[in-house]
Amino acid sequence: DALVFDSSSQKNNGSVLQENGIKKHRCHCIPAPHSISSVCISELSKITMPIAFNEPLSFLQRITEYMEHTYLINRACSLSDSIERMQAVAAFAVSAVASQWDRTGKPFNPLLGETYELTREEQGFRLVSEQVSHHPPVSAFHAESLTGDFVFHGSIYPKLKFWGKSVEAEPKGTITLELLKHSETYTWSNPYCCVHNIILGKLWIEQYGTVEIVNHSTGDKCVLNFKPCGMFGKELHKVEGYIQDKSKKKLCVIYGKWTECMWSVDPQAYETHKKSEKKDNKKQKNEELEGAENDDADDMPEVQETVSVIPGSTLLWRIDSRPPQSAVMYNFTNFAMCLNELEHGMEAVLAPTDCRFRPDIRAMENGDIGNKEKERLEEKQRAARKERAKNDEEWSTRWFQLGTNPYTGSQDWIYSGGYFNRNYQDLPDIY
Ligand SMILES: *[C@@H]1O[C@H](CO)[C@@H](O)[C@H](O)[C@H]1NC(C)=O
Ligand SMILES: *[C@@H]1O[C@H](CO)[C@@H](O)[C@H](O)[C@H]1NC(C)=O
Repeated sequence: DALVFDSSSQKNNGSVLQENGIKKHRCHCIPAPHSISSVCISELSKITMPIAFNEPLSFLQRITEYMEHTYLINRACSLSDSIERMQAVAAFAVSAVASQWDRTGKPFNPLLGETYELTREEQGFRLVSEQVSHHPPVSAFHAESLTGDFVFHGSIYPKLKFWGKSVEAEPKGTITLELLKHSETYTWSNPYCCVHNIILGKLWIEQYGTVEIVNHSTGDKCVLNFKPCGMFGKELHKVEGYIQDKSKKKLCVIYGKWTECMWSVDPQAYETHKKSEKKDNKKQKNEELEGAENDDADDMPEVQETVSVIPGSTLLWRIDSRPPQSAVMYNFTNFAMCLNELEHGMEAVLAPTDCRFRPDIRAMENGDIGNKEKERLEEKQRAARKERAKNDEEWSTRWFQLGTNPYTGSQDWIYSGGYFNRNYQDLPDIY
């Protein structure tokens, strides 16, 4: 039972086997999830609560979604102007968290030793990730350009805080992008992500906090402020910031919404525009204050998803619209919909620890939401941990080693290489 998805690959059916044994990507067939209306609602009473709020992806796959707009890195590589490169990198950093929009389904926690790989010939990269630590949960990833233009890597440790009605994820960990031909390295951390109304009401997602993208060759910076939605929701999804040089001179302003698009504009034009906007706002604010209700709800403010464009701006990035079935498929993007795809022939070459083989995720994807696989895997993981403790054994990671990020000096997980040699003999049996 599969939805046939209209993409160009359909016309060109049949996959091409690559050197490395992995077929060239052809996403034409998306497994249909259980229909929300027929299965989910009637089953809700029977199932264990947590899985009902899951989406059938592992967190390792979720972080792979950073790569959806790899064309922005490719663009950065191709630009000779360093400010334009920084603009493209900033747009990439924002686009990397755009898939979070309306994604309130919780991804599955990766098991220790779980891996995920993704090769996208058309986008020109391959990526490998590994769950390198269980307590705290740390996921490390390493992506590289197929043409040697860039390396993109990081380790993510989402530290969760419960605030009663909401849960906030602090994205600890550094993200590093190296543009090899330009001998340039940029590092940053993702914004905070908050899921509201976890107990009651409609779930919604907010991202906020300051993201600083640093060019380590010069100390130049791009400072991006992901704005909290604010009292009247005016700032919802807004991102604003600037690129500054070493002497803190603002070189350009960057603005937009992480759910929609990002623009850059000359700082002067921006200031002029802001001043005229302020005048109009004063009047409006007074009207709003009169109509404000002071209730306790934590509902998502209703705002129009439009960015008002300042004359003279340059478009840096615009989000793709989601596929029509997205609403009944966990609000996945096109990119996300293909992440579980296991084409004929892939089984033989993937590492046995790959997320695509996780039986609990597969079961959920196939509509079996009350499945016992999740429990079994967790139990197996606990038993393996006990066994290690008994034998005084340390867990050793396979593809990443704990080290120091040479640019930030902070602790980081560094890819030790070799994954794509496909020697998987001594991998642990985690499923
Ligand atoms: C998908 O998005 C819609 C529209 O905003 C929202 O109502 C729904 O809760 C979202 N579903 C998931 C699984 O996040
Ligand atoms: C980053 O550093 C490199 C190397 O010194 C420099 O050439 C470039 O202008 C810088 N780029 C930005 C955007 O600051």
